[in-house]
Amino acid sequence: MKSFASDNYSGIHPDILNAIISANADHEISYGDDIYTQQAHQLFESIFGDLTLLFTFNGTGANVISLKCCTLPFQAVVCAETAHINADECGAPTQAIGCTLLTIPTSNGKLTPELIQPLLKRIGNVHNTQPKVISISQSTELGTVYTIDELTGLCNFAHENDMYVHLDGARISNAVAKLGVSLKEATVDCGVDIMSFGGTKNGLLIGEAVLIFNDKLKANAPYFQKQSAQLFSKNRFVATQFIALLNNDLWLRMATHANCMAQLLYNEVSKISGVTITQSVDANAVFAIIPAHSIEPLQQRYRFYVWDEKTTELRWMCSFDTTEEEVMDFVGYLKSLIY
Ligand SMILES: Cc1ncc(COP(=O)(O)O)c(C=O)c1O
Repeated sequence: MKSFASDNYSGIHPDILNAIISANADHEISYGDDIYTQQAHQLFESIFGDLTLLFTFNGTGANVISLKCCTLPFQAVVCAETAHINADECGAPTQAIGCTLLTIPTSNGKLTPELIQPLLKRIGNVHNTQPKVISISQSTELGTVYTIDELTGLCNFAHENDMYVHLDGARISNAVAKLGVSLKEATVDCGVDIMSFGGTKNGLLIGEAVLIFNDKLKANAPYFQKQSAQLFSKNRFVATQFIALLNNDLWLRMATHANCMAQLLYNEVSKISGVTITQSVDANAVFAIIPAHSIEPLQQRYRFYVWDEKTTELRWMCSFDTTEEEVMDFVGYLKSLIY
């Protein structure tokens, strides 16, 4: 069955699989003291500048470690209501860190200084948890992408108010492909303090990376990683995947392809009367409302999620391996269902 459900329904890119096979020779030092991890670190530093690098098994783990580095138990994380850390991590950040999430409703998944400002009244009041980090997703859970100006504005606002910025970059490659700037320009140059760099949604078998740019957040990170059960003994098998991903801009080629497929899908479904696009299609996701009677038959042929049960808003997601033919077949079938 073809799938527009999620970019992690897709498989592993052949170059990534080959990298795992090539690393599968001889013995190597475990727990990240291996040559693959060293090489990956050098590669990340050649792209972003000085940083501390930790690999994790999954995005939830990367987010938990990042937020733990930024907060004490009486402090709070400010995020959009739709943020993965709030909506889809089973309370892991609050359980593992002991901090509070202060969630903000948004129309498009993006936070702004104006939306956050009212929460700052809590600062200095012993009865309230203290906002200490702004966590944003790039691209967002609604498929939108912060512009460089929006990101820089948010980071400046955070720093002026003695807060950090955490960027959940499960789909940072798709966002950067859209922005047309370098990874560094889209993150550390805007003022991001700490981020997760996604792998699984962009062709990896397993693995995400925590990149720590702010020196103040670096020292405790390896201990938090171990305590949160995210230190992989055979670390080389994650590192080798990231080396393959970063080399020859594989990350960018895959993300650009996924974004182009989403644009094609958007352009084609927009021509069908009865289809309403609900979010700006900035990255690799298309959000839409279609006539209710067509949802179930469409789902029998293609997997995808009903994002919002109340409004029946749907999410269609494209991956690095989505083909034009699959998009056009999907569009053709959807057309045939709408009457
Ligand atoms: C925005 C975002 N962050 C993080 C994750 C990573 O989650 P997981 O722990 O399943 O790898 C996801 C996965 O859907 C996501 O969409």
